[in-house]
Amino acid sequence: MNGLIHIPNDWLEEIINLAAERIVIVDRNGIILYINPAYCEFIGTTVEMATGRHVLDVIENSRMHIVAQTGQAELAAVQSINGSEMIANRFPLMVNGELVGALGTVMFRNPEEWLHYQQKIQSLVEELKYYKTRFEKEMKSKYGFNDLIGNSPEFLAAKKLAERVSGSQSSVLLLGESGTGKELFAHAIHSNSKRAAFPFVPINCASIPEHLLESELFGYEEGAFTGAKKGGKKGQFQNANFGTIFLDEIGDMPLSMQSKLLRVLQEKEVQRVGGQKTVPVDVRVIAATHRDLEKMVQEGKFRKDLYYRLNVIKIEIPPLRKRKVDIPIIGTHLLKKVGANFHRYDLHLSTEVIERLQHHIWPGNIRELENVLERAINVLDGKTIEIVHLPLYLRELEDNRQVHQQMRSEVEKDISSPTLMSLKDTVAHAEKQAILHALVVTKGNKQEAAKILQISKTSFYDKCKIYNI
Ligand SMILES: Nc1ncnc2c1ncn2[C@@H]1O[C@H](COP(=O)(O)OP(=O)(O)OP(=O)(O)O)[C@@H](O)[C@H]1O
Ligand SMILES: [Mg+2]
Repeated sequence: MNGLIHIPNDWLEEIINLAAERIVIVDRNGIILYINPAYCEFIGTTVEMATGRHVLDVIENSRMHIVAQTGQAELAAVQSINGSEMIANRFPLMVNGELVGALGTVMFRNPEEWLHYQQKIQSLVEELKYYKTRFEKEMKSKYGFNDLIGNSPEFLAAKKLAERVSGSQSSVLLLGESGTGKELFAHAIHSNSKRAAFPFVPINCASIPEHLLESELFGYEEGAFTGAKKGGKKGQFQNANFGTIFLDEIGDMPLSMQSKLLRVLQEKEVQRVGGQKTVPVDVRVIAATHRDLEKMVQEGKFRKDLYYRLNVIKIEIPPLRKRKVDIPIIGTHLLKKVGANFHRYDLHLSTEVIERLQHHIWPGNIRELENVLERAINVLDGKTIEIVHLPLYLRELEDNRQVHQQMRSEVEKDISSPTLMSLKDTVAHAEKQAILHALVVTKGNKQEAAKILQISKTSFYDKCKIYNI
């Protein structure tokens, strides 16, 4: 037995039947040496009747006798049998280096079966394509430096610095108020780097519950906790391998996680929750926050060592109120972008509107401007956005003096000619006025405004949303 284990002879037939649905073997003269029952059933004969006969007498359009002579394989050949187009594979049979005959297989009993397979595979291919493009779209950054609009010196300085460091491997810390474009900067830096072909993975540290953040970032092993998926799960650091991870709202990362993150940044490897193994990762980190991290470090709320690690390159994005000269060009850009979503083209801002926008302090920065323009497009019939299309607070808030004057006159009007509203509406009206007033006094700082009004930040934000502020 030469030490080899042989398959028992009586197994062979069953193995052949399992391996190929329909199979035929001929010798060099084209005489059938073997044909399995499935093939015979398909062509309406029996094994006994077919064996020992020339293949052309048994299978119509067969070319097995030719392959047995030429030794040239014919793969995926279309062969018409019983009126059906079948897919045939014909292989020369070589034994000890000598051509002894040919082996043929036929796939699919009928065109319906073939169609069925084809449709099944086709729909899988389509599905795969869909997920692939979606995955690529989501993983890859969507914006470049061309999408960062603004010509003011403050903005250009930040943009230039970002452009210059995009090729570097160092961590970047983006600082800026809400809506100033931190995420857009992160996208642009990634797309302009050598990592552009690899994933860009954004994580919002503030929106993931503390107990899930670790497994989200580093992954977990099977059975790490109840509800853990079978086979475990990769973390976002691994998903971002060779690419960039964008840790948004880093100031909201709990202290316990900060030390784990620091370890990853130093060691360049992650350890899954519930696992022992470490996996090397090559990821560039871009972090962002609207918080004053330096102050948080002093207060012991943010790890000093992590702060230094992230702060290798610091880019401060100026708020919109400090670059009001950019408002016309950003406004025009956003109008085009938002307009296209509504299939509205060639829209412009009137001179009065531009002036009015330049007077506002923009606590919500560019995101707020975008919302204002979206609202305007919704109420606009023509092509030019006028003051009437702006939300009430912008129509009212021309400047502090005017607001105060207006508020005074409104209060006076309310007293002198009381237009009676329901109590609910009256309270809402008063609330809105109080919020607007507080925002004027604090120059748009929502946190301070909430403090003055002695309400929580969350309820302040909720109310702003309700009153469209
Ligand atoms: N310089 C810019 N030019 C054009 N559009 C911009 C610019 N900066 C920001 N935007 C737009 O403003 C919106 C807000 O930007 P982004 O989400 O990057 O801000 P953010 O700083 O991450 O805000 P937050 O702190 O609230 O998350 C986005 O729709 C973005 O496309
Ligand atoms: Mg953001």
